[in-house]
Amino acid sequence: MHNIRTRKIPFEFPQDIEPYWKPDMPEWCALLNGISLTMPYLEPFLIRSIRDAAQQIEEVELKDEIRSFIEQEAQHFSQHRKFNELIKSKGYAVLAELEEEMEVYYQKLDGSSLQKRMAYTSGFETMTIGLTRFLVNRRRWLFKDADPRVASMMLWHIVEEAEHKSVAIDAYRAACPGYLAWVYGLFHGAFHVLFMAIRGAVMMLAEDGRFKLVNKLRLAGLVVSFLMTWAPVLIRSLLPGHHPDHIEDPLWVQQWIREYDAKEGVPLLDTSHDDIPASFT
Ligand SMILES: [Fe+2]
Ligand SMILES: [Fe+2]
Repeated sequence: MHNIRTRKIPFEFPQDIEPYWKPDMPEWCALLNGISLTMPYLEPFLIRSIRDAAQQIEEVELKDEIRSFIEQEAQHFSQHRKFNELIKSKGYAVLAELEEEMEVYYQKLDGSSLQKRMAYTSGFETMTIGLTRFLVNRRRWLFKDADPRVASMMLWHIVEEAEHKSVAIDAYRAACPGYLAWVYGLFHGAFHVLFMAIRGAVMMLAEDGRFKLVNKLRLAGLVVSFLMTWAPVLIRSLLPGHHPDHIEDPLWVQQWIREYDAKEGVPLLDTSHDDIPASFT
């Protein structure tokens, strides 16, 4: 049984937050804003899928974990929605086009078989381990001197992704197992979300006239760097019998959880600190 805690955190995203919340890395801000943009469409879809899978599952412990998974994901997308509304209000109404597209896409995917939906869900969830490693292990590069309100929300989300990383695959294997369908779902889920995030980033940068050759190269460099962290997780995940619990979480994640248990409140990180420790200001 995994310890999956629901944290209702009163994050606030006031108007003084800049869309490029780490001014020296606008391409990174745009990319993470793009990831954030997908969440209010992706995560409700994950919830709908796993809720349907739960109806096929008898195991009480797994059903409890699914309930906690749903509660965490519901918190995630509602925080991201608040943040996304702020970003759009700052001159990026164009992003609403991509949102409409995602709404239609996931509605259509809702009509697929439970196995296809759960393969997408559990495939994506398995690959969040790669994102956790990227964001946490490279936090000094990605978040140093970033607006702590944005960095703290993003890192809270990824800590909880680490906490519930095994729930969707357990639900998939219990409700609608199948290796090949799962492999397809992993690529489908992981790369679809990444592709949408990149499109969001490009739209944002283009809106600002910041999509010149140098920006394209920097954005490509970030994506390549991310894929290099992702690749070993992807390879391990494809091995039959793999389970997300076999991959250890970064120590920082455990430190964050202990710090939150001790302090609660808004887990604001000190991004001016060279190490961005898992302690809250
Ligand atoms: Fe999430
Ligand atoms: Fe998740």
